[in-house]
Amino acid sequence: MLPCIDVFDSYEALSRAAAERIAARLAARPSLCVALPTGRTPLRMYEVLADITRNRGLRWGRARVFLLDEYLGLGAGDPGSFHRFMEEHFLSRLEERPQVDALDGRAPDPEAECTRYEAAIRGAGGLDLAVLGLGRNGHIGFNEPGSSFDSRTRVVTLAPETRQANAPDFGGDPAAVPPRALTVGIATILESREVLVLVAGAAKAEAVRRALAGPVDPAVPASALQRHPRVTWFLDREAAAQLPGLLRTYQP
Ligand code: GLP
Repeated sequence: MLPCIDVFDSYEALSRAAAERIAARLAARPSLCVALPTGRTPLRMYEVLADITRNRGLRWGRARVFLLDEYLGLGAGDPGSFHRFMEEHFLSRLEERPQVDALDGRAPDPEAECTRYEAAIRGAGGLDLAVLGLGRNGHIGFNEPGSSFDSRTRVVTLAPETRQANAPDFGGDPAAVPPRALTVGIATILESREVLVLVAGAAKAEAVRRALAGPVDPAVPASALQRHPRVTWFLDREAAAQLPGLLRTYQP
């Protein structure tokens, strides 16, 4: 199945297009059920989306938001937690809050928390849209290389390169990054009715090539998306640099 790949001239253009895509889906379906990512990549998208929401009177009140992942041991109150990140960078900017569900990294029984989350997504009618970032090692959510494509929401061990990449959020020390996390699974993501992947920067170019132009292989978790019928990749030029020409379609 051929994905839709849009390459933008700048991070700003990519962020605006992504915000517009989510806004369009929410306008068309006020009860939108959407999974949202953390990370540096979507930061500007969240700013623009909050602005669009305000300026166009878009309503989030009937929507449901599921956060993709969380560090084991961290809760909404902890600096470094993804729940806190989403509150700070997106949710607190909305006048009308969606119903938000997040994996609780401090849950006494993390496995039970994952089961609860999976059931909550199912109970919401499944995801209409999963918005994803991409790790340099090809991860989606915190589904690290080797994750089964049948995987569901679960506790995972983070790859050393992921702890290295996320060290800036923990004072620059990879050892300070929690070693484990809870993440929505690959099968859960593949069941979403639509997927939007945002990738920016040269450091991701190889992961983008392997995900889109390489074999479908659990060594590259994002390659699982080749099996999804409705995926859009929004890339900046740097992230698209290693793609074969045929896979590149530039946006003005
Ligand atoms: C994080 C998250 C992912 C995110 C990825 C890329 O650790 N678990 O959901 O997409 O890594 O993050 P960034 O956008 O900061 O490169």
